[in-house]
Amino acid sequence: MTQAELTGVPETALWTLRNRAEEALRPDSGYADDEAVRLYRALAGEDFERFGPPSQVHPLRAMVIDEIIAGFLATRPGGPVVALGEGLQTTYWRLGEPAAAWFSLDLPEMVAAQQRLLPPAPAITRLARSVLDRSWLDEVPSGPAVVTAEGLFMYLPPAEVHLLIADLAGHFPGGILLYDSIPRVFSALTMKGRVRLSDRYIAPPMPSSQSLRQARRLPTRIPGVVASEDLIPPPGRGRWASPLLRRVATAPVVRALRPSLTLLRFSE
Ligand SMILES: C[S@@+](CC[C@H](N)C(=O)[O-])C[C@H]1O[C@@H](n2cnc3c(N)ncnc32)[C@H](O)[C@@H]1O
Repeated sequence: MTQAELTGVPETALWTLRNRAEEALRPDSGYADDEAVRLYRALAGEDFERFGPPSQVHPLRAMVIDEIIAGFLATRPGGPVVALGEGLQTTYWRLGEPAAAWFSLDLPEMVAAQQRLLPPAPAITRLARSVLDRSWLDEVPSGPAVVTAEGLFMYLPPAEVHLLIADLAGHFPGGILLYDSIPRVFSALTMKGRVRLSDRYIAPPMPSSQSLRQARRLPTRIPGVVASEDLIPPPGRGRWASPLLRRVATAPVVRALRPSLTLLRFSE
């Protein structure tokens, strides 16, 4: 057991935490995440190097999602924000501890870690449950909400993802859902245990994938979904800032091989 006392899929929250904290620590980065840095330092006993070299993918994803949550809260200051599989995300603090109802759902092992490691935040209602156990919906008011699922859907059984989105659309009419996906080829590699981040860490199986084409078709496939948008993260540093590489990275063939970030809108 490591310092954070996390195993299996919950352990992957340390991977994203490390990437956000490392980015925030760089003087040449525009990404700020003080709470992630504090937590990263507090977990100095963790072997974060097992996740391989830091990547900008998670802080850039967080920047896109922060902007959309902030936009939602500008018109609905009370929220709610519903963060599924929230792990050790520090979104609430990056957004300045908004006066909104904030629901955070994760597995019991992770909620115990959140309570041990994150600062107390009375505005956050923590739901220690699998997202597949829909009893959690009884504890969150129905109506427009901004729902996030960062780094979650790929870990769910494929047959569950559309059912979950349909239930979210039914419970949060007029709301939006933000989630990221991996391409099929990457999912297949994880299923064979072939995504090795270092000599001592292999990414866990990620059975669910989504292509851009599948994302675009969701409004015709899932009741209550009226629009689907592919979100492109802002430029990062170094090669992530190169206009040429960004053009290549957003070309259809390459996009099909890259992770994506989707925004779905639910009918009123
Ligand atoms: C890759 S981590 C992402 C954590 C966080 N969202 C982030 O981006 O830093 C995956 C998260 O999904 C959670 N998770 C996995 N399966 C879940 C399930 N069935 N229900 C709720 N949470 C789940 C894990 O505990 C973990 O916190």
